[in-house]
Amino acid sequence: MAPFWPVVLQQDNLVLRPLKLRDKKEWTKLRQRNQNWFQPWESTVPDEFSDGKASFYQIVKNLRIEAKAQRSLPFVMEIDKKIAGQITVANINYGSTRSAYIGYWIAEEFAGKGYTPLAVAMAIDHCFEVLKLHRLEITIRPENLKSLRVVEKLGLRSEGLRPKYLHIDGDWRDHLVFAINKDEYNESLVLKMKNLK
Ligand SMILES: CC(C)(COP(=O)(O)OP(=O)(O)OC[C@H]1O[C@@H](n2cnc3c(N)ncnc32)[C@H](O)[C@@H]1OP(=O)(O)O)[C@@H](O)C(=O)NCCC(=O)NCCS
Repeated sequence: MAPFWPVVLQQDNLVLRPLKLRDKKEWTKLRQRNQNWFQPWESTVPDEFSDGKASFYQIVKNLRIEAKAQRSLPFVMEIDKKIAGQITVANINYGSTRSAYIGYWIAEEFAGKGYTPLAVAMAIDHCFEVLKLHRLEITIRPENLKSLRVVEKLGLRSEGLRPKYLHIDGDWRDHLVFAINKDEYNESLVLKMKNLK
């Protein structure tokens, strides 16, 4: 059987791979340059529970713990060998749900070229075909039109609104829920995304 993690997935010049400690400088610069781009969509922790900003070392360490426990696939998106963003399959549950949640971001300089829909397609294909999961979910703020386009391109099913579902940019925000079940997955989404180009 294929190992759960580490996993590397590739489609042409887009590579999904684990974040490494040696990525610190490149990852930190990218995040700093794009702070305003991410801020409205960035998850936060309510003040009373926050113990400050995590260091890069803590971030990598936490991602590794989650991956080792087979609860997460924390990919970095690399385009032409440059770090461009992240895509994380998280909250992987087995037993009677076999479900997971997918989150993503890409830096502004790489946006608008269809890389995120392709990366999500790669992750979904992997989750259904290799991990044999049953359901994958993406939640998006109604105001995030760019991200709504991502799930529209992928053809995910809309399930409605979860009021004040996630703490984003300093407050509890409503989210729209999109999902795909294995029995709705008729073709490789990577092929579907490549045919959109
Ligand atoms: C949402 C996001 C991941 C989309 O990634 P992407 O790789 O650009 O995806 P696409 O190339 O399919 O572009 C999606 C839409 O973004 C819009 N867009 C593209 N480039 C843009 C740019 N430079 N500035 C503003 N909007 C842009 C377009 O409406 C595009 O739809 P179209 O292809 O029909 O024209 C990315 O914009 C992002 O990371 N934003 C900040 C963080 C975030 O929102 N994360 C998701 C939280 S749910």
